[in-house]
Amino acid sequence: MTRRLIAGLISVAGFAGTAAAQSAPAAPTFAKDVAPIMFAKCANCHRAGEVAPMSLLSYQEARPWAKAIKAKVASREMPPWGANPALSLPMRNDVSLSDKEIATLVAWADAGAPRGNDADLPPAPTFVEGWTYGREPDVVLEMPVEFEIPAEGELGVQTFFSKIPFTEDKFAEVLELRPGNRSVVHHSGVFVVDIPEGSQVVDGRLVGPDGKPFIERTEAGLPKTDSGTLPGASKLLSWVPGRGVDVHRAAVGKRIPAGKYLNWQMHYNPTGTAQTDRSRLGIWFNKVPVTHELLIRQAGDPLATDTASASLYRAEGKEVLYKADTGSTRRSRTTPNIPPYVEHWSIIGITPVTEPITLYAMSPHMHLRGKSLRWVIVYPDGREQTILDVPKFDFNWQFNYELKEPLKIPAGSKILGLGVYDNSVKNRWNPAPHLPVYWSEQSWDEMYQAFTEYTVDSQVLSGPGAKLTTSQQPRQR
Ligand code: HEC
Repeated sequence: MTRRLIAGLISVAGFAGTAAAQSAPAAPTFAKDVAPIMFAKCANCHRAGEVAPMSLLSYQEARPWAKAIKAKVASREMPPWGANPALSLPMRNDVSLSDKEIATLVAWADAGAPRGNDADLPPAPTFVEGWTYGREPDVVLEMPVEFEIPAEGELGVQTFFSKIPFTEDKFAEVLELRPGNRSVVHHSGVFVVDIPEGSQVVDGRLVGPDGKPFIERTEAGLPKTDSGTLPGASKLLSWVPGRGVDVHRAAVGKRIPAGKYLNWQMHYNPTGTAQTDRSRLGIWFNKVPVTHELLIRQAGDPLATDTASASLYRAEGKEVLYKADTGSTRRSRTTPNIPPYVEHWSIIGITPVTEPITLYAMSPHMHLRGKSLRWVIVYPDGREQTILDVPKFDFNWQFNYELKEPLKIPAGSKILGLGVYDNSVKNRWNPAPHLPVYWSEQSWDEMYQAFTEYTVDSQVLSGPGAKLTTSQQPRQR
C-alpha cells in the first residue's frame, strides 16, 4: 500500500497533491466521476471492435486497469493528442483531458478504484455504426479494386487510381475516409491527381504503354512514389485510428475536380491471415454556396495562388535546392539524407504569404524518425507567433489540428514549419540508426510534410463579386 502510494506521488506528484487537497474526504467513484470521463474521452477507442486493446466502458472492465489509467493520463499519453497546449492556439478538435479530469482519474486510482453507486452512472454512450458523420454521404467513391493483403511480409505503400466520376468540379464540406477492413489498414490517404503523361489506369493501377507498372523517375533515377510529385496533386484527407473525418466550415469546400483521378495511398499491415480491403470515401456537399476553396499546402511551398515565389526549404540551416525537371514545369526537392546516429536533424519549410489568407488547420506528417514539428507565423512587423507545437511527434497518431478560431494572416507574413528528426539509438522507434535516411513514402524512409489548410481571402467563388476560377491546384515541387 505504502509502496503504491509513494510510486503514485513520484509519477504524478503535482496532480496527486492538488487532487488530495481539493477533493477532501469523498474519493471519486467510477459511477459518479470516472464513467463520464471514460464515456466522453476514452470509449471511442476503448470498446469492443475498436483500436485500443481493452474496453473501458464498465466498472468491471476498467477496474483492473486503474493503475495503468492513472499512469497514462498523468503523463498525457492517453488520450493520444500531440499538441502542447502551452504553445499552441486552442483547437476545436482537442481531445485531451483537463487538469481537473486528470486529477479525478488519479485520485480514483489512488483510492483503490471505488465503484460507487450504480444509480449515479450516466447513460451509456451510443456510437453510430457505419459513417461516423451521422448521415449517409451524398456520394460514396470506392477504391477501384478489392485488394488482397497477404498473410505475411512487409508491403510497401500500395497506390490505386480511380477516375473522379463527376462532369463538373464539386465541393465537399465533409469528407470521410473509411477502411473496408480495420484490421489491416494501418493508415491511408486520398489525393486528387492528374496521371502522368504516358501512363494509364488499368485495374486501378498505373501502367505504362507496355502494360507494366508505370514508375516515374526523377532525373537522378529515383522512383517518384510521393503523390506530391504527381502532376496537379492535392491532398483530400487521411485516415489513421482516431481520425478520418474532415469537416470544413459551412461555405468552405474542398474541390473535387471533374476528370482528375483519386490516388488512394494505402499502408497495410499483414495480420497472419490473408485479408482483403476496399476502402471508401464518403462525400457530403456544402449546403450553402461555397465562397472559398479549401487549399492544403505544405509549409515550404508557395501559396496555390502565388506563381512568383520559389519554394523554400532549409535542412540543417542550408537551403534545399529545387530543380525543374527537363521539359516540365515540375520540380523536385533534393533534400539531403539524414546521417546515421544523428539525434537532432532539422528541416524548415517557409511559405511566403503573398496575399491575405485564413488558416484553419495543420497536420504534421513524418515517419519513424520524426521527433517534433512546430508551426510559427512571422508577421510583417517581425513578430513571431507559435500556433501549433507538437513536441513529441508520434507516428501512430497523426492528427489534424483544427484551430478553434480561423486565423487571419496578412500579406507579407511567412508560415514556418520547423521539423526535427532523431536518427539516433535514443529513438525507440528507429529501425536502423546506423543507416542514412532517405526520403520516400515508405515508412522506413522519411517524409517532411507540414500540411496547412487555408483559404485565400480574395478568392470569392459565389455570390456578389464572384470570380469563377479553374481548379487552383498547387504548383509542383
Ligand atoms: C484515439 C484512440 C484512443 C483514445 C481516445 C484513448 N485511447 Fe487508450 N489506448 C489506445 C490504444 C491504441 C492503446 C494501445 C497502444 C498504446 O498504448 O498506444 C491504448 C492504450 C491505453 C492504455 C495502456 C494499456 C496497456 O496495455 O498498458 C491505457 C491505460 C489507456 N489506453 C487508457 C486510456 C484512457 C483512460 C483514455 C481516456 C481518458 C484513453 N485511453 C483514450 C487508444 C486510445
